[in-house]
Amino acid sequence: MASKLFSSFELRTLALKNRIVVSPMCQYSANDGVASDWHMAHVPTMAMSGAGLTMIEMTDVEPIGRITLGCLGLYSDACEAALQRVVQSAKRWGGAVIGVQLAHAGRKGSTHKPWEGGAPLRPQEGAWQTVAPSAIPFADGWPAPAALSEGDIERIVGAFADAARRALRVGVDLIELHGAHGYLLHQFQSPLSNKRTDKWGGSAENRLRFPLRVVEAVRAVWPEEKPLGVRISCHEWTDGGLTPDDAVVYARALQARGVDYVCCSGGGNVATAKIPVAPGYMVEFAAKVRREAGIATRAIGMILTPQQAETIVADRQADMVALARGFLDDPRWGWHAAEALGEPIPAPPQYQRATRDTWPGAKLVRPSAAAAE
Ligand SMILES: Cc1cc2nc3c(=O)[nH]c(=O)nc-3n(C[C@H](O)[C@H](O)[C@H](O)COP(=O)(O)O)c2cc1C
Repeated sequence: MASKLFSSFELRTLALKNRIVVSPMCQYSANDGVASDWHMAHVPTMAMSGAGLTMIEMTDVEPIGRITLGCLGLYSDACEAALQRVVQSAKRWGGAVIGVQLAHAGRKGSTHKPWEGGAPLRPQEGAWQTVAPSAIPFADGWPAPAALSEGDIERIVGAFADAARRALRVGVDLIELHGAHGYLLHQFQSPLSNKRTDKWGGSAENRLRFPLRVVEAVRAVWPEEKPLGVRISCHEWTDGGLTPDDAVVYARALQARGVDYVCCSGGGNVATAKIPVAPGYMVEFAAKVRREAGIATRAIGMILTPQQAETIVADRQADMVALARGFLDDPRWGWHAAEALGEPIPAPPQYQRATRDTWPGAKLVRPSAAAAE
């Protein structure tokens, strides 16, 4: 029977050749937000993986919206020109469909890169004043963010719209807003980080006001025929925090504003949350949101094997599956999934002499290549 994972999927006028997505992954290798040689190597490599959609990492809409000094941005002409080179290269050589994830780190900004420990920067290291809905630090020992004023909120909404205009010129096929993992949109949504008493806080409706304003501003400048997605955290695994029922309400509001899919992730806003990580541990969120909100969903989180991904799509738990670390481990994950599921190998022509069908060595190095015949 034909694989459902390798069936095509349409988002507005964008046709994805399969349901596999390279999840956005920060590379911490930009300079003042500007993509570097690393991105020129990394993004096209991911785009040749066989995935139907390759997401570019969290890309920040203003300098203080970055997590680290190495984070990618889309807030200057230099950012735009460099990202355009990366995207055009990936499309020219990999035939890729490319999305970008627009974001603002809020109170989780101004830190060292993960491989330098990830702690908050000190002033002499280039620290900046972070911002958030309320002046509540992310974790013990972290500096307090400044609570955003009405004017600051409008500035950031405008920065998202400006970045979306730049994304259009860059030539990406899809925009995703980062509403998950404890970054600014999520900080507003969560009652744990948003203690405001004005129209931007308090009730669930008020806490969604900022992320929904961002969605509206981006949708207004992003062409009608192009898809827009949002990644959300469906569970905070913390008393008093967000749960999957909140995700359903959020997803309905997103869909009403022209959002085409929701990526159902979790966590990130509470440093001490105990997250029950296991294979496919967040797939149930994608299934629930899809069922109850009636919007397309993408599943993420420890999706490891082709068969697991196939089952998620075939059982209609999600419309797409994303993998992050699986693609770093094996940048040909999509080829190998096709091999395991008996589908044509989605390799670019330059590499077609090294697939199961053309290279006898494939069956010797991977027993799965022989087994799939
Ligand atoms: C190196 C790295 C960077 C990441 N950066 C981002 C990011 O930019 N945006 C995002 O939404 N998630 C980011 N994540 C989370 C992944 O997209 C994904 O949700 C998470 O790793 C779980 O999926 P996995 O089990 O397939 O790795 C990152 C993960 C890794 C490993």
